[in-house]
Amino acid sequence: MRPIFLKGIAISEKIVIASDHGAFDLKQKLIERLKKLGFDTLDMGVHDAKSVDYPDYAKKVARAISRGEFRRGILLCGTGIGMSITANKFPKVRATLAYDTYTARMSRLHNDSNILVMGGRTTGDEVAYEILETWLHTPYEGGRHDKRINKISELDGLIVHDPADEGN
Ligand code: RB5
Repeated sequence: MRPIFLKGIAISEKIVIASDHGAFDLKQKLIERLKKLGFDTLDMGVHDAKSVDYPDYAKKVARAISRGEFRRGILLCGTGIGMSITANKFPKVRATLAYDTYTARMSRLHNDSNILVMGGRTTGDEVAYEILETWLHTPYEGGRHDKRINKISELDGLIVHDPADEGN
């Protein structure tokens, strides 16, 4: 897949993805699904179903998006809640938990979502595939939503300590 350029910087079109143990199976299935849809992925773990702490994996994906290394990411845990809470600490991240195609669609149209979050214990495989495709194929609407997104971005400036600068 060809890289895209934003302000002269190459951004990988690969989709970066991670889960905790609560959604390991779903992650593997979504990676397969993405491949079938023609998307490359970078899998940041977990690589088995052993118990881990979801913030460690949310950080990996959210930091990559925050730094502009990737344009889109996917995070999965049992409910999707912990991943959302953690990922949204990072500047420029708009991680959105979707339980259905309506919320997935609106998260792109109105919120310019850059990380899709789902729950492996709350969302069945077929619904997850529909949510994924909806999220991937729905553009951001722009217009009146730009000013709202800008207001979110202004809050990034209030963060004194930038977690995106931490090593891991
Ligand atoms: C792990 O048991 C579970 O707490 C986690 O996957 C997630 O649901 C947290 O929000």
